[in-house]
Amino acid sequence: MATAPKYYIKTYGCQMNERDSEIMAGQLDQIGYQVSPKDSEADLIIINTCAVRASAEQHAFGYIGQLKQLKDSRPQMRLAVAGCMAQEPGTVAWIKRHAPHVDLVFGTHNLHELPRLLEEVEEHEATVVEVWKSAGDVVEHLPSHRNDGVRAYVNIIYGCDKFCTYCIVPFTRGKERSRELPDVVDEVRALAREGYQDITVLGQNVNSYGHDLVPALDLADLLEALEKIEGVRWLHYITPHPRDFSQRLISAIAHSQTITHHVHLPVQAGSNPILKRMNRKYTREEYLDLVSRVKTAIPDASLTTDIIVGFPGESEEDFQQTLDLVREVRYDAAFTFIYSPREGTPAARWEGRDPVPNPIKKDRLNRLMELQYQISLEANLKMIGTTETVLIDGLSRKNPNVWAGRTQSNKVVLLDRDPAVDLIDRFVPVRIEQAKTFYLSGRQAGAPLSGRSPRRRVELPLV
Ligand code: 5AD
Ligand code: SF4
Repeated sequence: MATAPKYYIKTYGCQMNERDSEIMAGQLDQIGYQVSPKDSEADLIIINTCAVRASAEQHAFGYIGQLKQLKDSRPQMRLAVAGCMAQEPGTVAWIKRHAPHVDLVFGTHNLHELPRLLEEVEEHEATVVEVWKSAGDVVEHLPSHRNDGVRAYVNIIYGCDKFCTYCIVPFTRGKERSRELPDVVDEVRALAREGYQDITVLGQNVNSYGHDLVPALDLADLLEALEKIEGVRWLHYITPHPRDFSQRLISAIAHSQTITHHVHLPVQAGSNPILKRMNRKYTREEYLDLVSRVKTAIPDASLTTDIIVGFPGESEEDFQQTLDLVREVRYDAAFTFIYSPREGTPAARWEGRDPVPNPIKKDRLNRLMELQYQISLEANLKMIGTTETVLIDGLSRKNPNVWAGRTQSNKVVLLDRDPAVDLIDRFVPVRIEQAKTFYLSGRQAGAPLSGRSPRRRVELPLV
């Protein structure tokens, strides 16, 4: 009997891409493939790419180039490029010129066609390119190969209509399309029955959820429906936009034990002229007002953000406004980025005329990170002496005698391990004893909250 062909998927970028990879994997399982732990043993390698910054693209281009050797030694192997980069015309041209060893290019809108596309590859010599320019209807009931454990991710809205001037996403992911509420509820109910207790609902712009449905809905309607589902212990939502963050949503979060009190509010910049040129559609004052409403309604909220430095034309004074805002909000953590011009976006044209020089971009990033690290440490130090519920993900990569997990607000917590007791996938009360900039550590302070999850793990993951 012939052995099943093996696949390996390399995923770059955000959680939406991770989820797309699970759907590709589910379809491959269904047509008889098996997952391979190594690319060198795979019969099919899919590279699911990210286009949000040049650095992510460089990694993917590098990996595609590297696979030439593997392909030369195993010519029957198939290589596919998918994801956001595939939606960019420049990538297809680059592959045709520099990487003819790629067999298939498909985009973010047609991943449900993967089995048919693989058949087509067998019929053609040249690279098969099938990238849809725009999104079709939402496709339901696709198979999916989810990770082990108790965390699961669920798409609720695809695409983005906001057109921030630096961002490639509206071009690679298309217009906003929400899934119908009953479809999402059914999926989460099935996941909860399977033992998934930590659910994250996903969208590029998650709080636009339902605005395109008839009748229109708010994200709060969906979260309120999902938190009632038996077995769902934690409910996260990523990524929100400050503009559509409704007061109803704030109060739904405030009144819930299930919806996480982690509030991610990407600010991007602290100066009004830059916010305006970024097309963020809020002012510094409106943003700070939202933060203060969140803090009032949810006093234990853990606030995080995304910030870009070195946007075209950003002056030292503009940057000082960003630092000031960070001092005022006191985020628990911030994801900080140097502006990266993306071809086809308005800001990329301005970068040609009015760029911030590279050394200044780097210096601003360093100053911003230094400030944020200090604030993160202070916020973490305040947690010493509190007891937090921690979902244990695996063993610490640095020390196998230590468990690593996360709080509902996504803070990493380390915990000494008794090898006789298996805490994997369990919700454990931990008394926090030590705080660092990027993690907390503590001691178990009681029995795990729930019985063993029915999910089965092949091996203990390192985190
Ligand atoms: N350059 C740098 N950072 C970017 N982001 C999005 N586009 C760019 C870009 N062109 C950042 C934003 C966003 C996060 C996911 O990535 O901060 O919130
Ligand atoms: Fe990009 Fe702005 Fe849409 Fe976020 S809201 S995906 S930053 S265009």
